[in-house]
Amino acid sequence: MAEPFLSFSQTPKGIPRHVAIVMDGNGRWAQKRWLPRVAGHKRGVDALRNTVQWCLNQRVSVLTVFAFSSENWKRPAEEVTGLMDLLVLALSREVPSLKQHGVRLYFPGNRSELSPRIAQGLDAAEADTSDNNRLALNVCFNYGGRWDMVQAARQLAEAGLEITEESLSNSTALSHVGDPDLLIRTGGELRISNFLLWQSAYTELYFTDCLWPDFDEAELNKAVSDYSSRQRRFGQLVEHAASEPRHA
Ligand code: IPE
Ligand code: IPE
Ligand code: MG
Repeated sequence: MAEPFLSFSQTPKGIPRHVAIVMDGNGRWAQKRWLPRVAGHKRGVDALRNTVQWCLNQRVSVLTVFAFSSENWKRPAEEVTGLMDLLVLALSREVPSLKQHGVRLYFPGNRSELSPRIAQGLDAAEADTSDNNRLALNVCFNYGGRWDMVQAARQLAEAGLEITEESLSNSTALSHVGDPDLLIRTGGELRISNFLLWQSAYTELYFTDCLWPDFDEAELNKAVSDYSSRQRRFGQLVEHAASEPRHA
């Protein structure tokens, strides 16, 4: 079970504490320019770097991004290898600066299916940034919402523990950060594609046609402005709605 997550920065009012993003549209961005799909993924890393900077500036506490789904293995081998190589390259290029800026990295997902080279790289990057507490950056890699629920239930069953909403939440791969407030999907598709199935029960959803490599500060501001106009009720009536879920 992951350690509790408490220490990250106080997010100002109107700004989501935890932002999650399905970074979709890299392939189409590249294809529109007659470039190989992996060129779009490379530009996607640039968009992620800018998003991290924006989160630091806005004092967002947690950023959770979908980088590789448990279904993305079904893509052509060339693209899968390109994505794995890009992950290794991005880690070596980005971790020193992330470390310097107070970003703590996590890689929720099924690491046992990754090559030892990749798995060790993820372990090392997590360890290397483990003293940081300005922003938690979850890069979901070989992640699937169904995998997460099964592995959580399995942990509880193996430990002989009762399955409750709380114990299951505490066993998910995102238990260290709490549920997302805002989930953005770029690239125009109106679906979750097996991202945070359990955790997004009461998350505000925002869909945009903007392709991920084009997603910039102006687009982020638009998403947050839309979010700040929403009324989150968590099943309560309007007049009683608080900004946090209330339990009986
Ligand atoms: C999202 O972009 C990144 C990954 C799934 C790894 P896509 O590669 O899905 O881009 P489109 O949807 O084909 O444009
Ligand atoms: C979701 O995008 C996964 C990631 C962004 C990593 P996909 O492109 O894989 O989703 P579908 O296939 O359009 O549902
Ligand atoms: Mg896609």
